[in-house]
Amino acid sequence: MKTLHIQGKTGKSTLLVGERLQKLEHYIAGRPAVIITDHHLLDLYEKDFSCYPVVTIGCGETIKTLDTVNSIYRQLVDLEADRSTVIVGIGGGIVCDITGFVASTYMRGVSFGFVASTLLAQVDASVGGKNGVNFDGFKNMVGVFSQPEFVICDMNLLHTLSKRDLLCGFAEIVKHAVIADAEMFVYLERHWPQALALDSNVIEKLVYDSVVIKAGVVNRDETEKGERRILNFGHTIGHAIEKTTGAPHGEAVSIGMVAAAAIAHRCGLLSEKDAARIKDLLTRMNLPTRLSGHREAILSAMRKDKKREGDDILFVLPEGIGKTVIRPVSLSQIGQLTDGLI
Ligand SMILES: NC(=O)c1ccc[n+]([C@@H]2O[C@H](COP(=O)([O-])OP(=O)(O)OC[C@H]3O[C@@H](n4cnc5c(N)ncnc54)[C@H](O)[C@@H]3O)[C@@H](O)[C@H]2O)c1
Ligand SMILES: [Zn+2]
Repeated sequence: MKTLHIQGKTGKSTLLVGERLQKLEHYIAGRPAVIITDHHLLDLYEKDFSCYPVVTIGCGETIKTLDTVNSIYRQLVDLEADRSTVIVGIGGGIVCDITGFVASTYMRGVSFGFVASTLLAQVDASVGGKNGVNFDGFKNMVGVFSQPEFVICDMNLLHTLSKRDLLCGFAEIVKHAVIADAEMFVYLERHWPQALALDSNVIEKLVYDSVVIKAGVVNRDETEKGERRILNFGHTIGHAIEKTTGAPHGEAVSIGMVAAAAIAHRCGLLSEKDAARIKDLLTRMNLPTRLSGHREAILSAMRKDKKREGDDILFVLPEGIGKTVIRPVSLSQIGQLTDGLI
């Protein structure tokens, strides 16, 4: 097991990569606790946390709402949870986002921790202190910055995850390598088959390296004023694809990363060879790299992007593998720069 720390204005967080769900008791440390989880996790792993009261929520993005939050508050009141209670979310990004929001607002904030059970939650959603829910169809519209006291990333949980959910996590791992770590990218080029097979050493190293990158960025820019934006690599086009086609997040981001790399090449920032390496790695990992159709709808969704600044969209563009810059691209250029890519 390896341990990392985030020291933010919104709290201190200890990230435990390779720790086991069965060790949760150690981190609860004798305090009263309530578990929040979803139906899938309850079916699969209930025996590992059956000694605590459990609040179970449904699954899927549509339950990430204030209604679900209300229902959890009610159950916490019924369970007589108070300021001494620690709330633990056991699940993927949805459970973590909801748990963090509930715990940060219930009684003006109580301690909370996560057992991140999807690859995406381990390398992304559980790290960094962003919590929240969707509102009126707008994603993550209501939320807070607040750090979980601890995050357990248990690799063993990944074996029950669907292939598609695993791949979404791998897309974010590739993203981390491209934006910040050339060596990690080479490691992925050499070890992607073992990674996909969830070889314990390989997956633990990749999750750890990813968490180091995300935690490092968050430590320097907790509330997304500047550097944290590099984590949006592949997401500008990715979000537009997700919105337009309903593609899973990781698949949309994979296509978005390939498009952003091609744009970087067209802007003279990235060599053709490095753009091809990014595309090749994602292809080998069974992630999509191209989308046909929907072009106009995707461009229109990008024009409506809430992160648009006037006539420009801020793009995270690689300047090489392991290094990125943020460049404004004008709306009028986007059509031309994405020609043949989406
Ligand atoms: N807060 C952040 O910084 C941040 C960052 C990225 C994503 N997110 C959010 O994360 C959410 C997506 O998270 P996700 O991809 O983890 O999806 P998810 O939480 O919906 O989990 C995917 C599915 O896998 C199931 N599952 C979870 N762990 C399992 C396991 N070990 N075995 C079997 N099944 C398991 C879940 O029940 C669910 O059906 C989105 O709402 C997104 O907005 C937040
Ligand atoms: Zn993402």
